Amino acid sequence: MDYKKLVAVRIQENVDLELDVIERLIEIPPKSEMGDYAFPCFQLSKTLRKAPNMIAQELKEKINNEGFEKIESLGPYLNFFVDKVDFTKNSIEKILTERDRYGSSDLGHGKNICVEYSSVNIAKPFHVGHLFGTAIGRALYEMLNSQGYNCVRINHLGDWGTQFGKLISAYKRWCNEEALEKEPISELLRIYVKFHDEAEKDPSLNDEGRMYFKKLEDGCEEEVKLWQKFKDLSLKEFERVYDMLGIEFDSYAGESFYSDKMDAVIDEIDKKGILVESNGAKVVMLDEYNMPPCIIKKADGATIYATRDLAAAIYRKKTYNFDKSIYVVGAGQSLHFNQVFTTLKLMGNDWAEDCNHVAYGLVRFADKKLSTRKGDVVLLEDLLNESIEKTLQVINEKNPDLDNKEDVAKKVGIGAVIFAYLKNSREKDIVFDWSEILSFDGETGPYVQYSYARGKSILRRAGEVNGEVDYSKLNSSEEFELAKSLEGFNKAILNSIDRLEPFIVTRYLIEVAKGFNKFYNAHSIMNAEDEATKNARLKLVEATCQVLKNGLGLIGIQVVEKM
Ligand code: ARG
Repeated sequence: MDYKKLVAVRIQENVDLELDVIERLIEIPPKSEMGDYAFPCFQLSKTLRKAPNMIAQELKEKINNEGFEKIESLGPYLNFFVDKVDFTKNSIEKILTERDRYGSSDLGHGKNICVEYSSVNIAKPFHVGHLFGTAIGRALYEMLNSQGYNCVRINHLGDWGTQFGKLISAYKRWCNEEALEKEPISELLRIYVKFHDEAEKDPSLNDEGRMYFKKLEDGCEEEVKLWQKFKDLSLKEFERVYDMLGIEFDSYAGESFYSDKMDAVIDEIDKKGILVESNGAKVVMLDEYNMPPCIIKKADGATIYATRDLAAAIYRKKTYNFDKSIYVVGAGQSLHFNQVFTTLKLMGNDWAEDCNHVAYGLVRFADKKLSTRKGDVVLLEDLLNESIEKTLQVINEKNPDLDNKEDVAKKVGIGAVIFAYLKNSREKDIVFDWSEILSFDGETGPYVQYSYARGKSILRRAGEVNGEVDYSKLNSSEEFELAKSLEGFNKAILNSIDRLEPFIVTRYLIEVAKGFNKFYNAHSIMNAEDEATKNARLKLVEATCQVLKNGLGLIGIQVVEKM
């Protein structure tokens, strides 16, 4: 039974409101002394022309309280106290029936959502900053998918623009083929950085770069071939990192994909009468919105980043008929997206309202800011490998006889990094600190993964439960609080989706793991007073493991059975 629904049904029997309206109004009180569910009477007070306190009191007298321990009115609220044992039993049984599906729903059935994330630049290093958006995007995708939304995962590759003309020029001048074969990205980065240094001394290099980009845009064979080579080499490198993280995409349509779709967009903007000349460039004025103009075409005729985004947005609408189009991109690009979305609206696309920039902060080590120009970046692959190595050291100290140590270290090490990225509100910067991230008993990935493995080890020791299960023995506050946390899983997912903030699920998992450890420390499981109590506790352990596994899966972390 779904208690929230029951609360809503009991209220509906007495008031003139739709069931789903009531359900949306129901709150979870901040303290358990105030009950498990609360219904605020403010909305009713308008239609009934009565003080909310009075309505709460009258409802309390009328309402059928069967299945609840008690119902109380407190000021303008009607507070419901569930029958604890009944609640605990229901939650556990629901989880153990639904298993891997627990937490899912078909709320989003029939709705299409584009989720763009990662969107790395080819020929540039895949650095630690990229994992931020990559992890957020994947988590949002998993969560939306779990609620039945039909999602398209898009990697809007940065594979077009004048920098590729510069790269071609640099390649012709300085590339070492052998190095390119061995470590493509570092060689490409080396010559790109060299190009910038040399161009400072000899600005005519920039003209050469522009010339090559023009040739690339015009489809000249040699330039296209080189560009394709840079792209293939880069993607091969990126794939390796995506594989480590278990990241996948449905589309790799990046900026180059839109190179032949921009003229149509520019025409359309022109037809709407909003394309104006400014210092030789073509722009859309956005003064009215307190923004600088959106540049559509530069003075030299080249299209830019924003134009490609306009084309991409229109293409996504046409191709996927999205209900929502999400862009997981760093907060530094807020103005850009504001300009693009506003331009789309000025073009008469009402659906621009459904485009959403999901911004995130920066990643720092100590006080170094990451930048690719200078080449002093921390590569994501190095970071992940370091995390795996450090985790392996911990395992060697704590549990040297563990089977599959390498595999466990990989899942826990990578999980620790992902967890750290998704632990806080996404607009907050991350300051990396190994000792914090890898700790087994802080609010960390390893802590949650360890709680799962601990639960699984208890279940392994106990073997299959086939005797009597007495749920009425799960009557302690630790057991009830844990069951209540487990029951809140779907709510946490929906909150994450509403706010496009994965940390809500991450935090939820910490809460479940903490609740589990409290329960585990307060009650003996294997030596419970009788078999039926032991069995009931084992069911609670099993349900907890299931929720931890499902939840970690949503944020992209794999569980380990032993650690
Ligand atoms: N490649 C860009 C960068 O690294 C991010 C692309 C963001 N997505 C977009 N549709 N503009 O800055």
